[in-house]
Amino acid sequence: MRHRTQVAVIGAGPAGLLLSQLLFRAGIDCVVLERRSRAHVEARIRAGVLEQGTVDLLDRAGVGERLRREGLPHHGVRLAVDGDAFRIDLHGLTGGRSVTVYGQTEVTQDLIRAHRDRGAALHFGAEEVALHDLTSGAPSVTYVHEGVPHRLSCDYVAGCDGYHGVARASVPAEALRVFEREYPFGWLGILADVPPCDSELIYSNHVRGFALASMRSPTRSRYYVQVPLTERPENWPDERLWDELAVRLGPGAAARMTRGPAIEKSIAPLRSFVAEPMRHGRLFLAGDAAHIVPPTGAKGLNLAASDVGFLAEALIERLAGGSEAGLDAYSARALARVWMAERFSWWFTGLTHRFPDMDGFARRMQVAELNYIRASETARATVAENYVGLPLAYAAGGRDAR
Ligand code: APR
Ligand code: PHB
Repeated sequence: MRHRTQVAVIGAGPAGLLLSQLLFRAGIDCVVLERRSRAHVEARIRAGVLEQGTVDLLDRAGVGERLRREGLPHHGVRLAVDGDAFRIDLHGLTGGRSVTVYGQTEVTQDLIRAHRDRGAALHFGAEEVALHDLTSGAPSVTYVHEGVPHRLSCDYVAGCDGYHGVARASVPAEALRVFEREYPFGWLGILADVPPCDSELIYSNHVRGFALASMRSPTRSRYYVQVPLTERPENWPDERLWDELAVRLGPGAAARMTRGPAIEKSIAPLRSFVAEPMRHGRLFLAGDAAHIVPPTGAKGLNLAASDVGFLAEALIERLAGGSEAGLDAYSARALARVWMAERFSWWFTGLTHRFPDMDGFARRMQVAELNYIRASETARATVAENYVGLPLAYAAGGRDAR
């Protein structure tokens, strides 16, 4: 079957769904193609800290209602050294900005519901997606849906299909530069229906390794411990994991920690990755398709949202009959912000994790830096402005690296 649309969106993660929703509100026609089932996409457990800019964009997309009701505003965050915590006053140090705790799973569900309510062209179970003629004036996408082969002609393709997707893989290797860091550890996460141990998140540097206490709601907690990449979740029965969290988060948090059975338990490796540029002809990459950050800074979803904010603006300008200037500027504009978030996520990971080759000197450097942040308002302000999300103006006017 042959069809036509203005923008073919590959992938129904937060990036693809938010882009399609923003384009729809501007009267632009698009089709979203997702390889997995709706149930699979809606059940995926991911991070849950939204910057103010992300919340504003979700509002603009018309999907902010439940987020406003159920999201938890967080005005501060805690850092700890061997269980001894101090607070960073995000709100006070950034002129009143803060973050909102609301699961990516919920964001995805809200976006899918909005698509269903308006009868949008959102196809789950799209197989064998392939991109064609990206550098011509008439690109197209072929795929198989429910056994029927389709060809979708379009003006532009948005590659929002994550790290393992087909979009970045469709760009010839010589047209992309890739930058990467792999970390020799992962995060073992547990989700449980128990009240959080603190009203704010705790990021703990412990001599045994990093730990994070997070949450999804007043009755649902999310915790992580750093583990070697060779670990498996089966080696971590719930009690062993709760015991390790109690040690790494320290006696104060441990005393307030409620244990409960795991609803989900999994290990995710940490990596930093950026592909430049984020455009190839009429293909535009957004979100995890173009870049990965280690989760320590909680930037993954927020970067996907800022990419899509820029891309939607540029596509709307162009498809409303205007200029291509926004599309031409997209990659540089998005990458400037991406690199700042890459830097913060890399720095925060290095500050809080135990590296296999770490000696006493390296550990004392971490502890000295954390003690400096504890003591200096200037240092805390630096962490705070990065954590809540840097103003867009910071990404403009800088110098590009060669
Ligand atoms: N064809 C169609 N869809 C595909 C294909 C393909 N060949 N390959 C992957 N996909 C789909 C995946 O099934 C997934 O639903 O693309 C979607 C990509 O979604 P995400 O991985 O969630 O990526 P993104 O939307 O960029 O969101 C970024 O998600 O992974 C987290 O840390 C990340 O929080 C960040 C956010
Ligand atoms: C989470 O709640 O899953 C979470 C929170 C903060 C992070 C990473 C993950 O930095």
